Amino acid sequence: MVEVLTVDAENPETELIERAAAALRNGKLVAFPTETVYGLGANALDGMAVTRIFTVKCRPSSDPLIVHIASAELLPQVACNLTPLVFELAAAFWPGPLTLILPKQPAIPPQVTSGGATIAVRVPSNPIAQALLTASGLPVAAPSANRFGHTSPTTASHVYNDFGDAIDLIIDGGKTEVGIESTVLDLTLPMPTILRPGGVSREALAMALGTVALHAGTEDAGTQRSPGLLARHYSPNAELIFYTNSDRSAVLPRMRRQVIEEISQGRQVGLLLVEEDLPFFDGLGVDIASLGKSSDLRQAAQRLYSGIRDLDERLVEIILARDLGDVGLGLAIRDRLRRAAGRVVS
Ligand code: TXA
Ligand code: MG
Repeated sequence: MVEVLTVDAENPETELIERAAAALRNGKLVAFPTETVYGLGANALDGMAVTRIFTVKCRPSSDPLIVHIASAELLPQVACNLTPLVFELAAAFWPGPLTLILPKQPAIPPQVTSGGATIAVRVPSNPIAQALLTASGLPVAAPSANRFGHTSPTTASHVYNDFGDAIDLIIDGGKTEVGIESTVLDLTLPMPTILRPGGVSREALAMALGTVALHAGTEDAGTQRSPGLLARHYSPNAELIFYTNSDRSAVLPRMRRQVIEEISQGRQVGLLLVEEDLPFFDGLGVDIASLGKSSDLRQAAQRLYSGIRDLDERLVEIILARDLGDVGLGLAIRDRLRRAAGRVVS
Protein backbone atom coordinates (compact mmCIF):
# COMPACT_ATOMS: atom_id res chain seq x y z
CA MET A 1 0.00 0.00 0.00
CA VAL A 2 1.20 3.46 -0.83
CA GLU A 3 1.30 5.77 2.16
CA VAL A 4 -0.12 9.27 1.62
CA LEU A 5 1.12 12.06 3.89
CA THR A 6 -0.83 15.30 3.81
CA VAL A 7 1.69 18.03 4.52
CA ASP A 8 1.23 21.77 5.07
CA ALA A 9 2.45 23.44 1.87
CA GLU A 10 3.86 26.55 3.57
CA ASN A 11 5.12 25.10 6.85
CA PRO A 12 5.84 21.43 6.24
CA GLU A 13 5.54 19.42 9.48
CA THR A 14 9.03 18.28 10.49
CA GLU A 15 8.00 14.80 11.62
CA LEU A 16 6.16 14.09 8.35
CA ILE A 17 9.06 15.33 6.24
CA GLU A 18 11.44 13.22 8.33
CA ARG A 19 9.31 10.14 7.61
CA ALA A 20 9.52 10.79 3.86
CA ALA A 21 13.26 11.55 4.08
CA ALA A 22 13.84 8.24 5.90
CA ALA A 23 11.94 6.45 3.13
CA LEU A 24 14.28 8.01 0.54
CA ARG A 25 17.33 6.96 2.57
CA ASN A 26 15.90 3.42 2.63
CA GLY A 27 15.75 3.26 -1.17
CA LYS A 28 12.00 3.89 -1.44
CA LEU A 29 10.13 5.86 -4.10
CA VAL A 30 8.59 9.06 -2.76
CA ALA A 31 6.34 11.34 -4.84
CA PHE A 32 6.52 14.96 -3.71
CA PRO A 33 5.33 18.37 -4.92
CA THR A 34 7.71 20.80 -6.54
CA GLU A 35 6.69 24.26 -7.73
CA THR A 36 6.37 22.87 -11.29
CA VAL A 37 4.79 19.40 -11.15
CA TYR A 38 4.94 16.46 -8.74
CA GLY A 39 8.18 14.47 -8.94
CA LEU A 40 8.74 10.76 -8.33
CA GLY A 41 11.87 10.80 -6.20
CA ALA A 42 14.59 8.32 -5.30
CA ASN A 43 18.01 8.65 -3.72
CA ALA A 44 20.20 9.67 -6.69
CA LEU A 45 23.18 7.83 -5.15
CA ASP A 46 21.29 4.51 -5.07
CA GLY A 47 21.34 2.93 -8.54
CA MET A 48 18.78 0.26 -7.58
CA ALA A 49 16.26 2.79 -6.31
CA VAL A 50 16.77 4.88 -9.45
CA THR A 51 16.20 1.82 -11.64
CA ARG A 52 12.85 1.30 -9.92
CA ILE A 53 11.73 4.77 -11.06
CA PHE A 54 12.17 3.66 -14.67
CA THR A 55 10.32 0.41 -14.00
CA VAL A 56 7.23 1.90 -12.36
CA LYS A 57 7.00 4.72 -14.91
CA CYS A 58 7.59 2.33 -17.84
CA ARG A 59 10.18 4.92 -18.88
CA PRO A 60 12.89 3.88 -21.36
CA SER A 61 16.23 3.59 -19.55
CA SER A 62 17.68 5.88 -22.26
CA ASP A 63 15.78 8.91 -20.91
CA PRO A 64 17.86 10.51 -18.10
CA LEU A 65 16.48 12.01 -14.89
CA ILE A 66 16.75 15.42 -13.24
CA VAL A 67 18.60 15.47 -9.91
CA HIS A 68 17.20 17.81 -7.28
CA ILE A 69 19.46 19.38 -4.65
CA ALA A 70 18.70 21.66 -1.71
CA SER A 71 21.02 24.50 -2.78
CA ALA A 72 23.65 25.48 -5.34
CA GLU A 73 26.36 24.85 -2.73
CA LEU A 74 25.73 21.13 -3.21
CA LEU A 75 26.46 21.27 -6.95
CA PRO A 76 29.95 19.74 -6.59
CA GLN A 77 28.29 16.51 -5.31
CA VAL A 78 26.59 15.96 -8.66
CA ALA A 79 28.36 18.02 -11.35
CA CYS A 80 31.87 19.09 -12.43
CA ASN A 81 33.48 21.99 -14.33
CA LEU A 82 31.41 24.49 -12.40
CA THR A 83 32.08 27.77 -14.17
CA PRO A 84 31.17 31.23 -12.82
CA LEU A 85 28.26 31.24 -15.29
CA VAL A 86 26.69 28.27 -13.50
CA PHE A 87 26.72 30.13 -10.20
CA GLU A 88 25.42 33.32 -11.82
CA LEU A 89 22.45 31.43 -13.22
CA ALA A 90 21.96 29.66 -9.90
CA ALA A 91 21.93 33.01 -8.09
CA ALA A 92 19.43 34.45 -10.57
CA PHE A 93 17.00 31.52 -10.92
CA TRP A 94 17.42 29.09 -8.01
CA PRO A 95 15.49 28.00 -6.15
CA GLY A 96 13.12 27.80 -9.10
CA PRO A 97 12.01 26.10 -12.31
CA LEU A 98 15.35 26.03 -14.15
CA THR A 99 17.25 22.80 -14.83
CA LEU A 100 20.90 23.03 -15.88
CA ILE A 101 22.69 20.39 -17.95
CA LEU A 102 26.28 20.11 -16.70
CA PRO A 103 29.16 17.64 -16.86
CA LYS A 104 28.35 14.73 -14.55
CA GLN A 105 30.22 14.01 -11.34
CA PRO A 106 31.60 10.42 -11.57
CA ALA A 107 30.12 9.44 -8.17
CA ILE A 108 26.58 9.64 -9.55
CA PRO A 109 25.45 6.18 -10.70
CA PRO A 110 25.04 5.82 -14.48
CA GLN A 111 21.32 4.92 -14.23
CA VAL A 112 20.54 8.55 -13.36
CA THR A 113 22.01 9.94 -16.59
CA SER A 114 21.24 6.93 -18.78
CA GLY A 115 24.97 6.32 -19.06
CA GLY A 116 25.60 9.84 -20.34
CA ALA A 117 28.44 12.19 -19.39
CA THR A 118 26.11 15.09 -18.53
CA ILE A 119 23.63 15.52 -15.69
CA ALA A 120 20.45 17.57 -15.30
CA VAL A 121 20.27 19.46 -11.96
CA ARG A 122 17.89 21.84 -10.30
CA VAL A 123 17.08 23.43 -6.93
CA PRO A 124 13.28 23.47 -6.48
CA SER A 125 11.64 26.30 -4.55
CA ASN A 126 8.58 24.45 -3.22
CA PRO A 127 8.91 24.46 0.61
CA ILE A 128 8.03 20.75 0.86
CA ALA A 129 10.60 19.82 -1.78
CA GLN A 130 13.17 22.04 -0.02
CA ALA A 131 12.44 20.51 3.38
CA LEU A 132 12.60 16.98 1.99
CA LEU A 133 15.94 17.56 0.26
CA THR A 134 17.40 19.17 3.37
CA ALA A 135 16.10 16.50 5.75
CA SER A 136 17.25 13.60 3.57
CA GLY A 137 20.70 15.06 3.03
CA LEU A 138 20.56 13.49 -0.43
CA PRO A 139 20.50 14.49 -4.05
CA VAL A 140 17.12 13.21 -5.26
CA ALA A 141 16.55 11.98 -8.81
CA ALA A 142 12.97 12.75 -9.81
CA PRO A 143 11.16 12.75 -13.12
CA SER A 144 7.60 14.01 -13.30
CA ALA A 145 5.42 11.54 -11.36
CA ASN A 146 3.34 10.24 -14.25
CA ARG A 147 3.30 7.11 -16.36
CA PHE A 148 5.71 7.59 -19.26
CA GLY A 149 4.09 9.63 -22.03
CA HIS A 150 1.08 10.61 -19.93
CA THR A 151 0.09 14.08 -18.74
CA SER A 152 2.28 15.38 -15.88
CA PRO A 153 0.74 15.56 -12.38
CA THR A 154 -0.07 18.80 -10.61
CA THR A 155 -1.89 17.23 -7.64
CA ALA A 156 -1.29 14.23 -5.39
CA SER A 157 -4.40 12.52 -6.72
CA HIS A 158 -3.00 12.75 -10.26
CA VAL A 159 0.02 10.83 -8.95
CA TYR A 160 -2.17 8.27 -7.21
CA ASN A 161 -4.28 7.82 -10.35
CA ASP A 162 -1.16 6.96 -12.37
CA PHE A 163 0.66 4.72 -9.88
CA GLY A 164 -1.72 3.53 -7.18
CA ASP A 165 0.22 1.23 -4.88
CA ALA A 166 3.21 0.79 -7.21
CA ILE A 167 5.13 3.46 -5.30
CA ASP A 168 5.88 3.74 -1.58
CA LEU A 169 4.84 7.20 -0.47
CA ILE A 170 3.05 10.29 -1.78
CA ILE A 171 3.39 13.66 -0.09
CA ASP A 172 0.17 15.58 -0.71
CA GLY A 173 1.07 19.27 -0.68
CA GLY A 174 -1.86 20.51 -2.74
CA LYS A 175 -1.78 21.98 -6.24
CA THR A 176 1.56 22.93 -7.78
CA GLU A 177 2.11 26.60 -8.46
CA VAL A 178 3.77 26.80 -11.89
CA GLY A 179 1.93 23.81 -13.35
CA ILE A 180 4.38 22.95 -16.14
CA GLU A 181 7.90 21.57 -15.89
CA SER A 182 11.17 23.42 -15.48
CA THR A 183 13.08 24.96 -18.37
CA VAL A 184 15.98 22.67 -19.33
CA LEU A 185 19.08 24.70 -20.27
CA ASP A 186 22.13 22.90 -21.66
CA LEU A 187 25.39 24.56 -20.59
CA THR A 188 27.61 21.87 -22.13
CA LEU A 189 27.08 23.12 -25.70
CA PRO A 190 29.13 25.95 -27.27
CA MET A 191 26.09 28.22 -26.75
CA PRO A 192 23.65 27.92 -23.80
CA THR A 193 20.65 26.15 -25.34
CA ILE A 194 17.08 25.65 -24.15
CA LEU A 195 16.29 21.97 -24.66
CA ARG A 196 12.83 22.24 -23.13
CA PRO A 197 10.95 25.52 -22.60
CA GLY A 198 9.37 25.68 -19.15
CA GLY A 199 8.71 27.71 -16.03
CA VAL A 200 11.60 30.18 -16.60
CA SER A 201 10.93 32.10 -19.81
CA ARG A 202 13.29 32.37 -22.75
CA GLU A 203 13.16 36.15 -22.30
CA ALA A 204 14.36 35.91 -18.69
CA LEU A 205 17.25 33.65 -19.73
CA ALA A 206 18.16 35.95 -22.63
CA MET A 207 18.32 38.86 -20.17
CA ALA A 208 20.71 36.92 -17.95
CA LEU A 209 22.82 35.36 -20.71
CA GLY A 210 22.79 37.93 -23.50
CA THR A 211 21.69 35.31 -25.99
CA VAL A 212 20.20 31.87 -25.61
CA ALA A 213 19.60 29.31 -28.34
CA LEU A 214 16.41 27.31 -28.63
CA HIS A 215 16.83 23.68 -29.60
CA ALA A 216 14.62 22.84 -32.54
CA GLY A 217 12.52 19.85 -31.51
CA THR A 218 12.92 17.02 -33.96
CA GLU A 219 10.62 14.09 -34.44
CA ASP A 220 13.52 11.67 -34.51
CA ALA A 221 14.20 10.44 -30.98
CA GLY A 222 17.54 9.00 -32.11
CA THR A 223 19.03 12.42 -32.72
CA GLN A 224 17.52 14.13 -29.70
CA ARG A 225 19.79 16.26 -27.57
CA SER A 226 17.33 15.71 -24.73
CA PRO A 227 16.15 12.12 -24.93
CA GLY A 228 12.86 12.93 -23.22
CA LEU A 229 11.84 15.42 -25.87
CA LEU A 230 9.84 12.94 -27.90
CA ALA A 231 7.37 14.42 -30.32
CA ARG A 232 4.52 12.62 -28.58
CA HIS A 233 4.34 13.19 -24.84
CA TYR A 234 2.05 14.53 -22.11
CA SER A 235 -0.78 12.66 -23.82
CA PRO A 236 -4.36 12.56 -22.62
CA ASN A 237 -6.56 9.52 -23.24
CA ALA A 238 -8.71 11.68 -25.51
CA GLU A 239 -7.37 12.79 -28.88
CA LEU A 240 -6.16 16.38 -28.56
CA ILE A 241 -6.44 18.57 -31.66
CA PHE A 242 -4.09 21.53 -31.46
CA TYR A 243 -4.77 24.59 -33.64
CA THR A 244 -1.57 26.53 -34.26
CA ASN A 245 -2.96 29.45 -36.27
CA SER A 246 -2.42 32.57 -34.16
CA ASP A 247 -5.26 34.50 -35.86
CA ARG A 248 -7.98 34.07 -33.28
CA SER A 249 -10.79 35.37 -35.47
CA ALA A 250 -9.87 32.83 -38.15
CA VAL A 251 -9.26 29.86 -35.91
CA LEU A 252 -12.28 30.01 -33.58
CA PRO A 253 -14.88 29.54 -36.36
CA ARG A 254 -12.88 26.57 -37.66
CA MET A 255 -12.80 25.06 -34.20
CA ARG A 256 -16.52 25.62 -33.83
CA ARG A 257 -17.17 23.79 -37.12
CA GLN A 258 -14.99 20.92 -35.91
CA VAL A 259 -16.94 20.71 -32.65
CA ILE A 260 -20.24 20.53 -34.54
CA GLU A 261 -18.80 17.85 -36.85
CA GLU A 262 -17.51 15.74 -33.94
CA ILE A 263 -20.80 16.02 -32.06
CA SER A 264 -22.74 15.00 -35.17
CA GLN A 265 -20.57 11.86 -35.25
CA GLY A 266 -21.71 11.16 -31.70
CA ARG A 267 -18.44 12.11 -29.99
CA GLN A 268 -18.13 13.86 -26.66
CA VAL A 269 -16.00 16.99 -27.07
CA GLY A 270 -13.92 18.91 -24.53
CA LEU A 271 -12.43 22.39 -24.87
CA LEU A 272 -9.18 23.51 -23.28
CA LEU A 273 -9.35 27.24 -23.92
CA VAL A 274 -8.99 30.67 -22.38
CA GLU A 275 -12.13 32.25 -20.94
CA GLU A 276 -12.61 34.76 -23.76
CA ASP A 277 -12.87 31.93 -26.31
CA LEU A 278 -15.63 30.02 -24.56
CA PRO A 279 -18.69 32.11 -25.65
CA PHE A 280 -17.96 31.01 -29.28
CA PHE A 281 -19.05 27.52 -28.29
CA ASP A 282 -22.17 28.43 -26.32
CA GLY A 283 -25.04 26.04 -26.63
CA LEU A 284 -23.06 23.22 -28.26
CA GLY A 285 -23.04 20.89 -25.27
CA VAL A 286 -19.29 20.56 -24.80
CA ASP A 287 -17.19 19.91 -21.69
CA ILE A 288 -15.01 22.84 -20.71
CA ALA A 289 -11.69 23.28 -18.97
CA SER A 290 -10.96 27.00 -18.74
CA LEU A 291 -7.38 28.22 -18.78
CA GLY A 292 -8.44 31.55 -17.28
CA LYS A 293 -7.92 34.96 -18.90
CA SER A 294 -5.71 35.08 -21.99
CA SER A 295 -3.75 37.92 -20.38
CA ASP A 296 -2.64 35.61 -17.55
CA LEU A 297 -0.39 32.91 -19.02
CA ARG A 298 0.78 31.96 -15.52
CA GLN A 299 -2.70 30.84 -14.73
CA ALA A 300 -3.03 29.12 -18.11
CA ALA A 301 0.16 27.14 -17.40
CA GLN A 302 -1.01 26.31 -13.89
CA ARG A 303 -4.30 24.95 -15.21
CA LEU A 304 -3.03 23.23 -18.35
CA TYR A 305 -2.36 19.68 -17.13
CA SER A 306 -5.17 19.60 -14.59
CA GLY A 307 -7.53 20.80 -17.34
CA ILE A 308 -6.43 17.95 -19.60
CA ARG A 309 -6.83 15.41 -16.79
CA ASP A 310 -10.27 16.81 -15.83
CA LEU A 311 -11.50 16.45 -19.39
CA ASP A 312 -10.15 12.89 -19.50
CA GLU A 313 -12.03 12.10 -16.30
CA ARG A 314 -15.21 13.36 -17.91
CA LEU A 315 -14.48 10.81 -20.65
CA VAL A 316 -14.40 13.24 -23.56
CA GLU A 317 -13.10 11.67 -26.75
CA ILE A 318 -11.77 14.81 -28.43
CA ILE A 319 -10.09 17.85 -26.85
CA LEU A 320 -9.65 21.08 -28.83
CA ALA A 321 -6.97 23.58 -27.86
CA ARG A 322 -5.32 26.52 -29.58
CA ASP A 323 -1.94 28.24 -29.52
CA LEU A 324 -1.50 31.11 -27.05
CA GLY A 325 1.61 32.59 -28.66
CA ASP A 326 5.29 32.30 -27.77
CA VAL A 327 5.71 35.16 -25.30
CA GLY A 328 6.77 34.22 -21.75
CA LEU A 329 5.15 30.98 -20.63
CA GLY A 330 3.32 30.83 -23.98
CA LEU A 331 6.35 29.06 -25.49
CA ALA A 332 6.23 26.24 -22.94
CA ILE A 333 2.44 25.95 -23.22
CA ARG A 334 2.82 25.65 -27.00
CA ASP A 335 5.49 22.98 -26.61
CA ARG A 336 3.32 20.88 -24.28
CA LEU A 337 0.16 21.21 -26.38
CA ARG A 338 2.07 20.26 -29.50
CA ARG A 339 3.44 17.13 -27.86
CA ALA A 340 0.12 16.21 -26.26
CA ALA A 341 -1.65 16.55 -29.61
CA GLY A 342 -2.75 13.61 -31.68
CA ARG A 343 -3.43 16.04 -34.49
CA VAL A 344 -1.88 19.46 -35.19
CA VAL A 345 -3.89 21.78 -37.45
CA SER A 346 -2.16 24.84 -38.89
O1 TXA B 1 9.95 20.58 -13.45
C1 TXA B 1 10.59 19.54 -13.67
O2 TXA B 1 11.64 19.56 -14.35
C2 TXA B 1 10.05 18.23 -13.10
C3 TXA B 1 10.12 18.32 -11.58
C4 TXA B 1 9.74 17.03 -10.92
O3 TXA B 1 11.40 18.73 -11.20
N1 TXA B 1 10.81 17.11 -13.59
C5 TXA B 1 10.73 16.68 -14.87
O4 TXA B 1 11.46 15.53 -15.13
O5 TXA B 1 10.05 17.22 -15.72
P1 TXA B 1 11.25 14.64 -16.43
O6 TXA B 1 12.10 13.46 -16.22
O7 TXA B 1 9.83 14.44 -16.65
O8 TXA B 1 11.88 15.50 -17.59
C6 TXA B 1 13.28 15.69 -17.61
C7 TXA B 1 13.74 16.12 -18.96
C8 TXA B 1 13.59 15.00 -19.96
O9 TXA B 1 13.17 15.56 -21.20
C9 TXA B 1 15.01 14.45 -20.05
O10 TXA B 1 15.27 13.81 -21.28
C10 TXA B 1 15.83 15.71 -19.89
O11 TXA B 1 15.13 16.44 -18.91
N2 TXA B 1 17.17 15.40 -19.39
C11 TXA B 1 17.53 14.82 -18.23
N3 TXA B 1 18.87 14.68 -18.16
C12 TXA B 1 19.37 15.19 -19.30
C13 TXA B 1 20.68 15.33 -19.82
N4 TXA B 1 21.76 14.92 -19.16
N5 TXA B 1 20.83 15.91 -21.04
C14 TXA B 1 19.76 16.35 -21.73
N6 TXA B 1 18.49 16.24 -21.29
C15 TXA B 1 18.29 15.66 -20.10
MG1 MG C 1 8.05 14.09 -17.58
